[in-house]
Amino acid sequence: MKILGIESSCDDTSVAIVNSEKRILSNERVSQDNVHQFYNGVVPELAARNHAFYIEKITQKALKNAKLTLNDVDGVAATAGPGLVGGLLVGLSFAKTIAQVKQIPFIAVNHLAGHALTVRLTDNIEFPYLLLLISGGHSSFYYMRSITNCIYLGGTLDDAVGEAFDKIGKALGLKFPGGPEIEKKALRGNEDAFIFPKPLVDKVSTNLNLSFSGLKSHITKLINSESNNLLSKNYIEDMAASFQKTIAEILINKIEKAIIYCDNKFPNYSNVVISGGVASNLYLRRKFIKAIIDKKKEPFIPPAKLCTDNGAMIAWAGYEKYKYGISSPLNFKALPRWPLEKEYFYE
Ligand code: KG4
Ligand code: ZN
Repeated sequence: MKILGIESSCDDTSVAIVNSEKRILSNERVSQDNVHQFYNGVVPELAARNHAFYIEKITQKALKNAKLTLNDVDGVAATAGPGLVGGLLVGLSFAKTIAQVKQIPFIAVNHLAGHALTVRLTDNIEFPYLLLLISGGHSSFYYMRSITNCIYLGGTLDDAVGEAFDKIGKALGLKFPGGPEIEKKALRGNEDAFIFPKPLVDKVSTNLNLSFSGLKSHITKLINSESNNLLSKNYIEDMAASFQKTIAEILINKIEKAIIYCDNKFPNYSNVVISGGVASNLYLRRKFIKAIIDKKKEPFIPPAKLCTDNGAMIAWAGYEKYKYGISSPLNFKALPRWPLEKEYFYE
């Protein structure tokens, strides 16, 4: 079976074709970074217009690279939420039209399920697993029991971790999105140059909540208080490295607590998965893998390219739903808010 997957929930237009044998036949993406760069953040209206401009072209490209035509596709999946409603509507309408014209199933996919299930495509892992999803919009722990059953364990009370990377990147005068830029600058920086607070991290509390807005404001204020507006190269590199190290320490503290919590509550799991755009950071990946192995669990992180938003994760999640017997009506709405644990509430 071949599923076409469409992702348009934020600023990447991506279309992929994935088959039931877990092969990614094509995975095409147009980034809108250049468009949003000027505003230092995603402008929803511009994002929607660009999705509308690119979606047909990129679908043709995905089909061509997979050496297929629409007649070879057995189902079409699209992100229905959470995300920016204008972009969601573009992807959804396009997918529904293909489904209607070709008389094939349409599957509405939760973007978070796309991130959450990617490891089952890339690493063939079984349920259950502990998941930390870290992206530009989300930072949450889940216990994934099956495709229809996941438990929210805790997450950010304010900003997502990717958002903190982007805002600090902006304060340092780096390109948008800040995450990959901070990772690059950090390579040459001294990670012990600055000591930052670690909100909600202490020895006694066992909760799995996270908070990044205080840390973000603290660092932004520090940067803005630099007397000369021109930040030195060394300052930027040291700041990037110290921030990245702090994020690693906060997340590792909570991953360890999440493992202890799940060991007590769900004794029969061994896999710990990290996914989402921030999980493409090589420094963080190395630290996470070591921390998880130290806790006697098996770490899984999808390849960096499949951590950031992509159509393959949506095609795969669509296939998983379809295999489970779920397809969606053509009047399925775009859902700007759609918690992962409510994935099946809207069926
Ligand atoms: O999953 P994703 O592509 O989109 C959302 O669902 O949000 O994640 C995008 C986020 C952005 O905040 C971006 O700065 C961050 O992931 N990101 C990174 C890296 N690559 C992307 N953060 C840190 N290091 C990276 N290498
Ligand atoms: Zn995402």
